[in-house]
Amino acid sequence: MRTRHLVVLADARDMSEIGDGSIDLVVTSPPYPMIEMWDGLFSSLSSVAAKGLERRDGDGAFEAMHVELDRVWQEVARVLCTGAFACVNIGDATRTVAGTFRLYANHARVISAFRTLGLDCLPVVHWRKQTNAPNKFMGSGMLPGGAYVTLEHEYVLVFRKGGKRRFLTDAEKSARMRSAFFWEERNRWFSDVWDFKGTAQGLDRGGLRARSAAYPLELALRLISMYSLYEETVLDPFLGTGTTTLASIACGRNSIGIEIDNAFSPFVRANASSFLAAANEAVWTRIRDHRDFIASRTDLRGPAKYVNGPHGFPVVTRQETGLQLYRIARIDASPGRPIEASYEPVGRLDDASQVEKERRALYVPGPLWNGPSAGS
Ligand SMILES: C[S@@+](CC[C@H](N)C(=O)[O-])C[C@H]1O[C@@H](n2cnc3c(N)ncnc32)[C@H](O)[C@@H]1O
Repeated sequence: MRTRHLVVLADARDMSEIGDGSIDLVVTSPPYPMIEMWDGLFSSLSSVAAKGLERRDGDGAFEAMHVELDRVWQEVARVLCTGAFACVNIGDATRTVAGTFRLYANHARVISAFRTLGLDCLPVVHWRKQTNAPNKFMGSGMLPGGAYVTLEHEYVLVFRKGGKRRFLTDAEKSARMRSAFFWEERNRWFSDVWDFKGTAQGLDRGGLRARSAAYPLELALRLISMYSLYEETVLDPFLGTGTTTLASIACGRNSIGIEIDNAFSPFVRANASSFLAAANEAVWTRIRDHRDFIASRTDLRGPAKYVNGPHGFPVVTRQETGLQLYRIARIDASPGRPIEASYEPVGRLDDASQVEKERRALYVPGPLWNGPSAGS
């Protein structure tokens, strides 16, 4: 299996180079309206937003910024296939404008934009952000009547174009089976509260990820695994540091990332070229977690009912019997061409020596590896 990853320097308000109905999933996070770090960007995209900020007209600036995002959402709606999902990570903003402190409900405004475009809004995820916790108290301290609750979560909004996706051909059905996730992953991922406490970020070069409000790799890995199949194409119209590109590589999906700021593309390529170890570690973590889960479940409730075909390990449901894992054999991020990744199927994992063999095959020395050491 091979995948390709395009990193395009462009303005996502015009994605006319991407064909109608050609994208299988959108995973993205736009600049957040009324968060000060994005004022400059929105002012450069819209003179109305710039004037709104200048005149201290909070509502006017908020709306003008969303009008620019709406143009991207319109393109997203066009390029998505019928039955495909768009997942949008966004946080609300709180801000004092002209002496008044208030909430700017970005998530509600984006839901309304997608509804206008005819997409269905599905239940949303609340992502609890650890980083917001230090600003916990705002307003009048211990005195009642003038304090505000702190925003400690962001949203992952989930939209679908058209009705439920149908898998009609044998090839589609088999790709869907191979792309299945584990029962215990389903239970964790399809909760409406996500908390990535303890998830190593490990990819921040010179603090660019923090400065660009990058989301955790784990967030993109989950969404891609939940809503697309191997070898399908994921689009991120606000690529930033390229977390969606990396997650697509790790998940065996193709990707297209659009970014307006040319400071990011060397960073995306550099991260991709040193990503092999972390990507394979993510595969190994899934295997290890599944083995741990099955061991403790077997202790409590006896053996699982089904056996997975490609790997030979026990699984809880029939839907997991065709699940196939892949290791990433090579990532080519040479300049001037699309990033390419090639994959090999992970083999059988029914006994300790086979697990050890696969662990060694997945082990690629690198700064991000923090699993068991080779030869231990
Ligand atoms: C919140 S950041 C995305 C961070 C990204 N998810 C990551 O993990 O690094 C939003 C990005 O959108 C880019 N952007 C803003 N407007 C854009 C537009 N019209 N077209 C393409 N990119 C845009 C910004 O430069 C910024 O890098």
